[in-house]
Amino acid sequence: MRRIAVLTSGGDAPGMNAAIRAVVRTATHHEIEVLGIRRGYLGLVRDAVEPLDSRSVSEIIHRGGTILGTARCEEFRTPEGRAMAQETLRRHGVDGLVAVGGDGTFRGGLLAGQEWSLPIVGVPGTIDNDVAGTDFTIGFDTAVNTALEAIDRIRDTAESLERLFFVEVMGRTRGFIALEVALAGGAKAVLLPEEHTDVPRLCARIRSGLARGWRAIIVVTAEGDDAGGAMRIAAATYRELAMEYRVAILGHVQRGGNPSARDRILASLLGAGAVEGLLAGQRGCMVGQVHDCLVYTPFAELLAQPKPLDTHALRLVDVLAG
Ligand code: F6P
Repeated sequence: MRRIAVLTSGGDAPGMNAAIRAVVRTATHHEIEVLGIRRGYLGLVRDAVEPLDSRSVSEIIHRGGTILGTARCEEFRTPEGRAMAQETLRRHGVDGLVAVGGDGTFRGGLLAGQEWSLPIVGVPGTIDNDVAGTDFTIGFDTAVNTALEAIDRIRDTAESLERLFFVEVMGRTRGFIALEVALAGGAKAVLLPEEHTDVPRLCARIRSGLARGWRAIIVVTAEGDDAGGAMRIAAATYRELAMEYRVAILGHVQRGGNPSARDRILASLLGAGAVEGLLAGQRGCMVGQVHDCLVYTPFAELLAQPKPLDTHALRLVDVLAG
């Protein structure tokens, strides 16, 4: 293998830069050249390619976002778009591709891998942690800690005014962020896309908590909750409880900022693991970390199974609410 390419795709995540750095420096260590693709699969379709060397990835391990840029690329979903991408890779003499992103990125990788002879190895980078084949995705730890810091601040004012707060965190289809933030932030309840939200039940819970002495009440909701996000849930609760409330939607602050130590380390291990995997003949798969071991899972396999949510942790939120 003489030359590989690396791209970041989908929603950016803190730690993607650390992953790019690990890919470039591991490849350089093995005397393999690296090309950076700008804006994910879009850059492959449009031939937006730049050489990367060890110095191009200096001083980025601590930076959020991605120096390569990212995109969600509709064209890559079509056979014509993928043919253009393949031509870019052929033109530049690329022997292997590392794609950092989430499940959309790996869906693209699966299709391309079936059509091309080029080996592709994925690296899980998304704040959502909704990718099977790895315990954690790059960016999740940072996003959870960012949301947690916000909740701690909200708690100060919630306690002072004895208020009910609904705090919405990211997670359009999965509730991994909401669950960890709720558990670590001492929320009184958590509402997730994986579970049906029963507003009367939530109200009954709040009523009984108030009777037992709850003062500050924080309810964490995932943006993709089936009852429609924090605003709608709060309004529905008000209709039953007539209790004053406030809503805080944390939004994209959760996607930015310096990656945590855990995310930098995970990104370094997985970025290096992707290059080592390509050298060892891995293809059409994602490198993840499961129980502290690097594991290569075929794209088809990890896309076929939704990552299970920790139902024990979910029940614990209620128990520990007191
Ligand atoms: O990166 C994943 C994610 O942050 C989801 O949690 C969220 O629903 C979505 O991206 C937001 O995407 P966009 O940046 O396109 O609004």
